[in-house]
Amino acid sequence: MCGIVGVTGKDSAVSILLNGLEKLEYRGYDSAGIYVNDQDGHDYLVKEKGRIDDLRKEVGANVHGSTGIGHTRWATHGEPSVANAHPQVSADGRFYLVHNGVIENFQALKDQYLSDVTFKSQTDTEVIVQLVDRFVTKEKMSTMDAFRKTLSLLGRSSYGFLLMDKQTPDTLYVAKNKSPLLIGVGQGFNVVCSDSLAMLDQTKDFLELHDGEIVVVKPDEVKIMDQKGDAVERKPFHVDIDAAQADKGTYPFYMLKEIDEQPNVMRKLSQVYLNDNGQPVINQDLLDALKAADRLYIVAAGTSYHAGLVGAKLFESLANVPTEVHVSSEFAYNQPLLSAHPFFIFLTQSGETADSREVLLNVNEQKFPSLTITNVPNSTLSREATYTLLLHAGPEIAVASTKAYTAQIALEAILAKALGEAVGQSAARDFDVKQQLALVANGMQALVDEKDDFDAIAKADLLHTPNAFYIGRGLDYAVSLETALKLKEISYVQAEGFASGELKHGTIALIEKDTPVIGIITQANTAALTRSNLQEVAARGAKTITIVTNNLAQDGDTIVLPAVDERLTALLSVVPGQLLAYYTSLNKGLDVDKPRNLAKSVTVE
Ligand code: F6R
Repeated sequence: MCGIVGVTGKDSAVSILLNGLEKLEYRGYDSAGIYVNDQDGHDYLVKEKGRIDDLRKEVGANVHGSTGIGHTRWATHGEPSVANAHPQVSADGRFYLVHNGVIENFQALKDQYLSDVTFKSQTDTEVIVQLVDRFVTKEKMSTMDAFRKTLSLLGRSSYGFLLMDKQTPDTLYVAKNKSPLLIGVGQGFNVVCSDSLAMLDQTKDFLELHDGEIVVVKPDEVKIMDQKGDAVERKPFHVDIDAAQADKGTYPFYMLKEIDEQPNVMRKLSQVYLNDNGQPVINQDLLDALKAADRLYIVAAGTSYHAGLVGAKLFESLANVPTEVHVSSEFAYNQPLLSAHPFFIFLTQSGETADSREVLLNVNEQKFPSLTITNVPNSTLSREATYTLLLHAGPEIAVASTKAYTAQIALEAILAKALGEAVGQSAARDFDVKQQLALVANGMQALVDEKDDFDAIAKADLLHTPNAFYIGRGLDYAVSLETALKLKEISYVQAEGFASGELKHGTIALIEKDTPVIGIITQANTAALTRSNLQEVAARGAKTITIVTNNLAQDGDTIVLPAVDERLTALLSVVPGQLLAYYTSLNKGLDVDKPRNLAKSVTVE
């Protein structure tokens, strides 16, 4: 939620900030702003409601500077408006602040320290910039001391802060707690960003920051300090992503590009995690820790949670280990009774989801072993878990996750095979995951090559409907949840994924003439049952659509998938759902990549 950028020591600061914000727009896009200073007595604050494009127009040609900060907002406190956009400014116009996160005790701080200040915004952030100002002007503190004192008052709040003081115009004061923040290191300049993607055209070398650290960033200096104020030595890490990988090229939207990339992601995972004989190549310590567990707990949010539902079935069927799947925001504050030797698996594309991180913090406190499966190297959850496996899916920019979901499932399959073999399960030994992933990749390719078919179905059956249902049983139910989420989040159709047997226990009352009901049928043991459930809704007027693997197909089925091992059908049956959602959104003229109210990286609880 919210993206922040900063730069110092570059005359082109304005374009660096705007370009960086454009790359971070996936983190929030309801308003944006920049503050720049030219070190020569001129400074500029420009804020705008809407997208970065709108801000760019407002900035125009005259705004210039060599040090600055910028922000793209996903509103938490206060509606999207110019007043609530960041940077927030102190009453005397000396301090400028951008913030990603939530200040939980902002009202108490306001009441205690700032009851005489007239606030210009409804944001929690303004309290922070006014507090710094208060401590500098009234208590005669240095900016650094005032910043430090302010941070000490914030309790459990989450923040990534970039602060500028007009009196030290080449300096960025940076602080981080829970919200992601990186320092990009350059020659004669330095940058700060929520995600390295924002600054890959400036540098590939980044310093990670830990919670509680404060950093002073100048053109020739990066000084990291811990909570006590002691200097911290840290080496930069190199990001191996080409800036072009984060471009959408000739695609109209990132989502379509990312759907199309899925066959290659399957092949890449095979290359990275399987040897020539198809044997998993997984860190032995991780395998030993998994073997020692009597129960796996998969914890995740949204689409990643849906990938966890599929993963649980893989771990149970291939490794014979009981596996539970939990929504992270629920688990965080309602931890169930755990088994004697739990092992936690965090699934998270971004590696930054605050709900999941809250669970990981609890898990670490209880000293349980954990694995983060993520697409983002050096992300917070990756750093803080005992082990990490990377998804190697390449940057996922569209808010609606596609290739990360299929990558998560494929990697879970590889890991389940590795664990199953390690504990002597014949099901795992007999499961040729390499060959199956090759079949999956070819099957995905066949599906994405038939885009016109999905466009036609979307136009005919989904474009004008207010609601729709995806139904299935077992693994097909898990995929129903994901395909329904895709449809609702980008096309705003009220869509539900339902266990097909459960429909008749109440929800069938919602079926009316022409309500689309999409049945997913890939599991032999439940195929006939789901077909009966489709008959039941058809008898009540529903328009039924089927997504069926070819070994189970019948005349009249709508979408037929190539057959793969039944445990991996989710990797194929989800693709029609992704494409149907894409074309419904596209044909409605919506911004497919940036659906309303959403942000890609959900860094607040
Ligand atoms: C939906 C979607 C979200 C994310 C969820 C968790 O398309 O992308 O539901 O899956 O916000 O995010 P990560 O996987 O980054 O933890």
